[in-house]
Amino acid sequence: MVRRIGILTGGGDCPGLNAVIRAAVRRADTAHNIDVIGFRNGFAGVIEGTATPLTRESTRGILHLGGTMLGTSRVDPIAAKGGGVDRIREVLEMHELDGLLVIGGEGTLSAATALSGAGLHVVGVPKTIDNDVDGTQFTIGFSTALEIATEAVDRLHSTAESHNRIMLLEVMGRHTGWIATYAGLAGGADAILIPEHPFDIDRVARHLKRRHATGRLFSIVVVAEGAVPEAGTITLPEPESDEFGRPRLGGIASFLGPMIEERTGFSTRVTILGHVQRGGSPNSFDRVLGTSMGVAAVDAMASGNWGTMVGMHGNAVVPVRLAEATATLKTVPRAMYDVAEVFFG
Ligand code: F6P
Repeated sequence: MVRRIGILTGGGDCPGLNAVIRAAVRRADTAHNIDVIGFRNGFAGVIEGTATPLTRESTRGILHLGGTMLGTSRVDPIAAKGGGVDRIREVLEMHELDGLLVIGGEGTLSAATALSGAGLHVVGVPKTIDNDVDGTQFTIGFSTALEIATEAVDRLHSTAESHNRIMLLEVMGRHTGWIATYAGLAGGADAILIPEHPFDIDRVARHLKRRHATGRLFSIVVVAEGAVPEAGTITLPEPESDEFGRPRLGGIASFLGPMIEERTGFSTRVTILGHVQRGGSPNSFDRVLGTSMGVAAVDAMASGNWGTMVGMHGNAVVPVRLAEATATLKTVPRAMYDVAEVFFG
């Protein structure tokens, strides 16, 4: 019998997290009579051991709010100082929890998989603007970020055209180019550079020159922050590391802009969208997806379906095995990129 569960949000934030928290608390209360507590700042809060009760009242009015009312961090529950499987188990027992709901992206859900493998009762919810978690068609946050990126492409069009310029728009996408491909497709980009398909800067420049030679007065290039050059072409500068030892991405467009300007002879400008993509209110799709996933995740917990993650498949949100969902990253399929490529030029 499941009586009490804990919730945390881990990794980078995204729009839609509060929708999941609200839905999980409401479903737990009304359908299953389960009490819920929340850990602050991802697994950092679990390691610390302190938690606060989450109730219908305390989670009211948050559906449309960006960020996460619980705070978040990239702290790894197993590798972090003071952490480890035994500590996490101890805290879950201390709070008399029957299970832990982990709302996270690739890093956080991989940690959840490891905890589940060690016998802890865990259920996951996939969130990340990068949309790179497998086992679900879409992750929470992607749709809102995509809307922001698409609006940026649209806005860059008019100013690019006034000046006969090439505009580089850099969007997030550490390992995969979901935002770049979809925003590029939606905004009619003339080139899209993503990690899945290494680029040749000379070929990109030749393509842009050809386009302007046919009388076009602007070009838009969407670049994912994690885009990589083809082997044997240019070398990108080594990124610095962030506080968790991960490469701090962001800035590839600033490196490529002058190269494209030099190779094409056209005035080139660079826009880096950065964390604007992660902030602010979730769009309606992410509110609905977050709500559906919050409800489905608590249902999975109530029925003891541990070691699962809820994923969107067609019109349904269903449990999938957490270990399978975190075994590989979900990359942009070649066929999708090919569709975008039809409109290059
Ligand atoms: O993982 C999601 C993500 O938005 C990546 O696309 C990006 O590289 C990273 O987070 C940025 O992380 P931080 O907020 O730590 O700078």
